[in-house]
Amino acid sequence: MCGIIGYTGPDKVKNILLEGLAQLEYRGYDSAGIAIAREDGSIYVEKQTGQTANLKAACEQSDADGHCGIGHTRWATHGGVTRLNTHPHRAGKVTLIHNGIIENYHELIEEYQLQDQLVSETDSEVAAALLNRFYDGTNPKEAIKKTVALLEGSFAFCILFEGLTDRIYCIRSVSPLVASSTEHGSLVASDITAVIKYSRKYFVVPEHQLMILYPDHIDLLNEEGIKTEPEILEVNWDVESAQKMGFPHYMMKEIHEQPEAIRKTIAPRLKNGVPSFEDEGMDDSVFASFTNINVVACGTAMYAGMVGKAVIEPIVKIPVTVQIASEFRYSTPLINENTLTIVVSQSGETIDTLAALRLARSCGSKTLAIVNVKGSSIARESDYVLYTHAGPEIAVASTKAYSVQLSAFYLLACKIAMVRGIFDHAQAKDFINNLYQCIDAISGILEQKDQIREAAKCLENAEHAYYIGRGLDYAFSMEGALKLKEISYVHAEAYAAGELKHGTIALIEKNIPVVAFATQDSVYNKTISNIREVKARGAYVLLITKENAEIPAGVCDMHLTVPIENDLFTGLPTVVILQLLAYYTSLSKGLDVDKPRNLAKSVTVE
Ligand code: AGP
Repeated sequence: MCGIIGYTGPDKVKNILLEGLAQLEYRGYDSAGIAIAREDGSIYVEKQTGQTANLKAACEQSDADGHCGIGHTRWATHGGVTRLNTHPHRAGKVTLIHNGIIENYHELIEEYQLQDQLVSETDSEVAAALLNRFYDGTNPKEAIKKTVALLEGSFAFCILFEGLTDRIYCIRSVSPLVASSTEHGSLVASDITAVIKYSRKYFVVPEHQLMILYPDHIDLLNEEGIKTEPEILEVNWDVESAQKMGFPHYMMKEIHEQPEAIRKTIAPRLKNGVPSFEDEGMDDSVFASFTNINVVACGTAMYAGMVGKAVIEPIVKIPVTVQIASEFRYSTPLINENTLTIVVSQSGETIDTLAALRLARSCGSKTLAIVNVKGSSIARESDYVLYTHAGPEIAVASTKAYSVQLSAFYLLACKIAMVRGIFDHAQAKDFINNLYQCIDAISGILEQKDQIREAAKCLENAEHAYYIGRGLDYAFSMEGALKLKEISYVHAEAYAAGELKHGTIALIEKNIPVVAFATQDSVYNKTISNIREVKARGAYVLLITKENAEIPAGVCDMHLTVPIENDLFTGLPTVVILQLLAYYTSLSKGLDVDKPRNLAKSVTVE
C-alpha cells in the first residue's frame, strides 16, 4: 500500500524523506516522490517511477532542500504507473500526498469543472485541485475543511501550502497515519517503521481531526477547531528488530522469529498456567454467553481463522463461521448480540476487514480483534483486542503473524472451554502445555531446513501444484498454497483431499507436485487413500505426517514429519514447513522473496 512520510524541524529534510521512503518500501509500491518547502516559499517536487533509488538519483541532480517536506510511495489504484500519476500532486499553491481512495472523484471533477486543471489520472490530484480552489492564500484550515467535506472514501493527506515553509497539514479518514513530536522535529508517517529511528513514542492521528506539524510541536484540532491531546503510544520493538539481523531476507528472519513471537504472545496471557485476559480488559463474562462465533479476515489472516474454527468447534461445540471480509461486508450477515465476531489482521488497517468489523458492530455483535499492530484502526474500533506480539512483520508474505494468530485462537479456545466448564484447570494446563510443545517443534523443523529445501525442488519448475488434506490439514493447506503462489508465482490450489475426485483430479497428471497432509489420525487412512488416487495418476507426492505415522510403500516420493503427538496441535510446526517450501521455491527462481510483484503488505484500498 502507499507509504507516507513527512518531516518539519531543524534538520535538512531531503535525506530524512528519502530514508523514510526506503523504510516504507515493504508496503509495496511502484513509484515515489517528495516535495520540499524551500526557504523562499516555493515548493520543490521530484517524482520518479520505479524504486526509491530512482528518486534518490533524481534528487541528487538538484541542490533543492529545506527543513519541511513530504514523501510518498505509490501503489497504483487509479491510473497507471507513470510520473504524472506519481505523488506529490501540485495544484497552484497546494502540494499534497494521499493514501486511500476518493470514490466520488469523477463527480467532483464534473461538479467543479476541474477537467482542464488535471494532468494525471488520479483521484488524489482532484483533492489537490479542490484544495487550491478553496484556498484563498490566507486560510489553509478553511480550505481543508471545505475539501474533505466533499470527499467520499478513504484518505490520509499530507499537505504543503506555498509560502508556509515550516508546517505540514494532515487529515485522515480510514487510511492510517501516525505522528511524533521529537527533539529532532515533528514527523508523520503511514506507519511507525518510518518514525522509530527518531522516537519510540508516537500517536495515531485521530480521524477527521486536523493535524498541523510545526518544527517544535504538533497541533491537533477537532472538528470544532479546539485543540485536543492524543494518546501517546510507545513502540515495544526497536529499529534492529525491523532490520534483517543477518538473514538474507526479512521473510527468513521472520520465519525464525516464530518461536519467540509465539512465546511473547502466549506468556503474558497465562496465570497459573491457564489463559487469562484480565489485562486485556476481558473477564470471564466475555466468553460465557455467545452462541456462535463469526471470524472475518483476509488472506493469511482468514486462513488462520480456518484453523481457529477447526480448533474451537470440536472443543466448545458452538458454530464458528469463517468469512472473507470483502464478501462479508457486502452480505446480509446473520449475526446479532449473541455472536462474537473475531476480526483477524496483522496490520490492523486492511480496509475490507475494518469495514467488516464496522458491519458486525452495527448488527449488535461484540467484536474481538486479533491484531499485531498496536493502536491500529481495527484495534481501536473493536470492543476487545488481543494483541499478538510478533513484532514488525516486514516481508509481504505473512509468516510469524500467522503463527501468533493461531496461538491466539488456541488461547481463546482454551479460555472459552474453561469458562463454559468444558475444561477443568488440569485440562486447560495440559492444553497450554501442548501449545508450548509446538514452540519446540517449530525449532525442530527449522533445523530441517536443508531437507525442506531439497523437498522444494519438486515445486521450483512446476506450473501448477496442489495442497490437499482433511479437517485441520485442509485448513493448513490453504495457507500453504497461498504462500507458494504469492512469492514463487506457482499456481497452487488447496483442496479438501476427499473432494479431489469430484472433478479436480482430472488435472492431476505425471509429475504434478501434490503436497499432501496426513497429520489427523481420525482421517489418516482416508487421506492415504486420496493420496493413492493422485499417485496412481502420476503425481509427485510430498507427504507431511506426524513422526510416528506408518507410511504404506509407494504412497509418496518425499516424506517430511512434524514432531507433535496431539492432532490438534500439528498446525504450527506444519505451517513452518509450508513457509520454507515457498521460500526456497521463490529463492530458486531468483524472485524478490520479500517484495513479490503486485502485492502490498497492507491492503488499505478496496
Ligand atoms: C499474506 O501472506 C498476505 N500478505 C495477505 O494475504 C495478508 O495476510 C492479508 O492481506 C491480510 O492482511 P492483514 O493481516 O494485515 O489484515
